[in-house]
Amino acid sequence: MKIGIIGGTGVCDSSFISNKENINITTKYGNIPLIKGMRNDKMIYFLERHSKGHKLIPSKVNYKGNITALKNLNVDCIISTAAVGSIQNCKIGDFVILNQFLDFTKNRSCTFFDEKNSGVVHIDMTEPYCPSLRNLLIKSFKSINAPVIENGTYVCTEGPRFETPAEIQMYKILGGNVVGMTNIPEVILAREKEICYATISLVTNYAAGLTNNALTHKEVNENMIKMTTLLKDALINFIDSIDENYRKCTCNHALSELNSLK
Ligand code: HPA
Repeated sequence: MKIGIIGGTGVCDSSFISNKENINITTKYGNIPLIKGMRNDKMIYFLERHSKGHKLIPSKVNYKGNITALKNLNVDCIISTAAVGSIQNCKIGDFVILNQFLDFTKNRSCTFFDEKNSGVVHIDMTEPYCPSLRNLLIKSFKSINAPVIENGTYVCTEGPRFETPAEIQMYKILGGNVVGMTNIPEVILAREKEICYATISLVTNYAAGLTNNALTHKEVNENMIKMTTLLKDALINFIDSIDENYRKCTCNHALSELNSLK
């Protein structure tokens, strides 16, 4: 099996994979550096979302390049991590396995189907995150007694600024549980490439206005670091428990119905 991992802010620990090698995949969207390695008989490709050393703001991340590189490497699935602020029903330290999103981005391309001759494609987003991966992830976190929340609606903002308290109140009314800046368009692009994709969101802070403190990137990073041991143990569990028969979903033929309509 081949597993892609997209590490978000603060997640760059790949110590659980062996025979590590730095590789570069050339895509039409640019050059994508990754770490290739093994965990027992599974091939792991580890990619830092913001590029090495956190250089790119969320609007400028090479989402298309990242997903295309993993597609070209023929990964079976992608697990991504994302730092988030809590809006409701979760607390700092929780791992929320996302199942829905609300898209409030405004300045990024959210589809591969905006390119020349790509045709008009409306991909189904009824279940945006792969249910088979989500189930395995939930089991992995439960087996190490980590605080996992099985469902959560992710609000994606454009950033790079944090939100106003008024915005957070609006997202709360709309049903958002957590807020971050990077899951859109990643989750959409993965589905458009028919790759199973799920996100572990790490609650690193309370969203703006929910506490008396101002939000800082430092707080996000510090809480993230505290969560990395549990994250790593759950990821190891996940990798060791997944096998070729995990797939009960339809992610890998997301385009087939559309193709048959052409
Ligand atoms: N807002 C947006 N993005 C974030 C937050 C937040 O509160 N915390 C971590 N990433």
